[in-house]
Amino acid sequence: MKDEGRNIFSVFDELLQKDDKEILLGQKGLTLWMTGLSGSGKTTIAKIVERKLHEKGFLTQVLDGDNIRTGINNNLGFSEQDRKENIRRIAEVSKLFNNCGIITINCFVSPNIAIRALAQDIIGKQNFIEVFINTPLAVCEQRDVKGLYAKARKGEIKDFTGINAPFEPPTKPSIEVPTEGKSPLESAEQIIEFILPKISLTE
Ligand code: ADX
Repeated sequence: MKDEGRNIFSVFDELLQKDDKEILLGQKGLTLWMTGLSGSGKTTIAKIVERKLHEKGFLTQVLDGDNIRTGINNNLGFSEQDRKENIRRIAEVSKLFNNCGIITINCFVSPNIAIRALAQDIIGKQNFIEVFINTPLAVCEQRDVKGLYAKARKGEIKDFTGINAPFEPPTKPSIEVPTEGKSPLESAEQIIEFILPKISLTE
């Protein structure tokens, strides 16, 4: 069956595109990729960003160690190879969400430039916003929410980022969020102000 030169059946066979779903949701599907040391506040800030965006009518999904390293990536550790696989799978999952028009807010140490470049390659440069949660090591270590820094210092955890494994800060993040002396709410507001024009559909 033909309709103005197009095969009408093939139209129904085609997958809906990202744009179609973005129009339905009234938003752009992007990834906010938060990188920073363990204990820098990534997840705490992400939860506030998610709640505030929800109040404004945006559909989001937070991805962090709690839902990724206990689930889809529960067979991975912290060797360089496992971290790379961790990030690769997370990026693929983010891409699926983004293609569905959903904004993902990712909280992963993602400790080096190459690993974040891999994530950006998978997700696509136009959908990837790198957010550097910049909290000095001394502050993270002093907070030591999970007691992991103390263990790493005692040699009980090997390859712990910042202590005996490297962290390469982003050289050109889309946005840098210095958290020292700021509340998580203030940091979340800084991110929201930056992100709002990027996730809103222009008429
Ligand atoms: S990543 O390096 O692969 O991106 P990811 O963000 O998933 O790391 O996980 C980091 C979290 O795992 C830390 O916040 C910390 O709670 C925990 N963790 C356990 N062992 C390590 C380690 N060796 N290095 C860094 N984080 C670790």
